[in-house]
Amino acid sequence: MSGADPEPGLERWRDAARIAAGARELGLRLAVPGARRREIAEAVEGYVREHGAQPAFPANLSRNREAAHYTPDAQDDARLENGDLLKVDVGAHVDGAVADTADTVEVGGGHRHAHLISAVREGLAAGVRAVRPGGAVDDVSRAVAEAIRARGLLPIRDLTGHSIERYLLHAGKSIPNVPGLSTERFLPGEIVAIEPFATNGEGRIENGPFGHIVRFRRPPPTDDAELSALYGRFRTLPFTARWARSDAERSALDRGRRLLQSYPVFLERGGGLVAQAEHTVLVGANGAEVLTRAGPAGG
Ligand code: CO
Repeated sequence: MSGADPEPGLERWRDAARIAAGARELGLRLAVPGARRREIAEAVEGYVREHGAQPAFPANLSRNREAAHYTPDAQDDARLENGDLLKVDVGAHVDGAVADTADTVEVGGGHRHAHLISAVREGLAAGVRAVRPGGAVDDVSRAVAEAIRARGLLPIRDLTGHSIERYLLHAGKSIPNVPGLSTERFLPGEIVAIEPFATNGEGRIENGPFGHIVRFRRPPPTDDAELSALYGRFRTLPFTARWARSDAERSALDRGRRLLQSYPVFLERGGGLVAQAEHTVLVGANGAEVLTRAGPAGG
């Protein structure tokens, strides 16, 4: 299907986006000194389910130098500390209509990292303003990069926003956070995530250790009941062993390892701190309509 014709209908995208935004705000509020990332992940994912959606990927709660793809496993009891910079990156889907949104909080509410958080939010706002139907993706990339550099910080050049299609979190189109990398254009009606990262490091990432996020590369053999059930639940969306419902499902994940892609945690290469902000937007006739804005009650 084409990115210009999102199915199963815009209403489901709007519902998923509203729920994802509420879950994001909850995660930001729970990120206090002494909180465990595992508990925040469970609360955020629980919020998504209680509001009638499903998590589109495990809550990403990357901290400090970790830029993305950290989700806690069931044994992760580490606690957040005062001054940690925590990214809360949340996805929700309703029948495959996926919304993806993120923001960053300084644990303990000090202002050591306010500059980084402001830079990435300004990058996101500038990127959203630059979206036009038929317009160049590169206009968004330039706007994002300029806003972040205006604060003397760097956009991370090897992490990008992305188009979204049904059951596809990262569909065909990338939206770089630096100019000069894309020759593509936005299609009217397309759903895209604008997703800048700002750092006081090198502006590049490197792969860290493999984390706890996996995804099916292809459907499992139909005679494997547990793997087929897992595939039925998650299709091609990222998930985590924390979501297994039984020991049988957990051992199926070991058995099915060849079928699964595993995501490394992304680390800032220069050891810099990383802030992230992200909205899912609809490319409308007059520009971007932000679908993942916080609700009036903060979610
Ligand atoms: Co995203």
